Amino acid sequence: MRKRWIAAAVFFLAFLAGGCRGAAPGTADSAPYEEEPEGSREHIVIGFSQIGSESDYRTANTESFKDTFTIENGYYLLFEDAQQKQENQLKAIRNFILQEVDYIILDPIVETGWDAVLQEARDAGIPVILADRSVEVSDTDLYTCWVGSDFEEEGHTAGEWLVGYLDEQGRSEEKINIVTLQGTPESTAQIGRTSGFAQVLDTQHNWNMLEYQSGDFTQAKGKEVMEYFLCTYEDIDVLVSENDNMTFGAIDAIQEAGRTCGPDGEIIVISFDGGRAAFEAMVRGEINVDVECNPIFAEQVAEIIDKLEKGEKVEKIYYVDEQYFDTSMDLEKIMEGRSF
Ligand code: AHR
Repeated sequence: MRKRWIAAAVFFLAFLAGGCRGAAPGTADSAPYEEEPEGSREHIVIGFSQIGSESDYRTANTESFKDTFTIENGYYLLFEDAQQKQENQLKAIRNFILQEVDYIILDPIVETGWDAVLQEARDAGIPVILADRSVEVSDTDLYTCWVGSDFEEEGHTAGEWLVGYLDEQGRSEEKINIVTLQGTPESTAQIGRTSGFAQVLDTQHNWNMLEYQSGDFTQAKGKEVMEYFLCTYEDIDVLVSENDNMTFGAIDAIQEAGRTCGPDGEIIVISFDGGRAAFEAMVRGEINVDVECNPIFAEQVAEIIDKLEKGEKVEKIYYVDEQYFDTSMDLEKIMEGRSF
């Protein structure tokens, strides 16, 4: 049977386990013992293993969870930032199990290597909800459900957009040289986007994928890899960059090399995430299209937990609503209504 602890007790155990890092209202990181509500008010205790802080998406995603799983909303959140290392995530999950949390939320950096630890959570009777990225395990009953993006669909959307754009430009028969800046190898976001785009690539006889290289979803590596692409290939028509932060680095590399990109430039830029800074880059004419990856979905996870608390059945997969944005749209107006 699951145990529900009062927040103060969990804070004490989190402290013992050395799990106190960072700071945010209503989380185990920051909520001081004295500020805990008096008496025996119960909270649902959540252990959240976040990947890191490699991108604007990640920052917004962390904020979404910290803003949703608050003391005021009836939760006690133990938040662990794995700093882009799977070993840290495994350690965090084992600590959550030791602390007998009510639920574990896991955003897995890569898809493989989770069977043993998820089995341990299952043996302890703790439901695991996957958020954002997913896992490849021998038995899908090792986790309760996955809430995240349809990454393959995102990649496919990007490919279909390029078909239409080249057609509009009268370039549908021209040889089109493409380079791809991939995300963290073996992550669901990388696998899905690469394969979704490749499905369209395979149907286009004139598209030539020059090279795939990982920029690990970071701006610094995105810049480094783009510098290499620019030195290696004279004629690049399209850059597919699997997240906005790598795109920002790549744009810096393109501009520093005295080259141009965007709707009026030499290199067509396709990006993913659709954060505010990317909208601004589209408005400046540096990015052609951005396929959204929505990080604001913690409320959806809270609804799932609510159902589980009531003993209701939940679906296995919940996809977050997403669309794409390009420079033919009224981007300034769209930006007004966006929180990321
Ligand atoms: O898993 C989602 C991806 O991870 C986002 O595209 C990226 O920005 C992040 O780091």
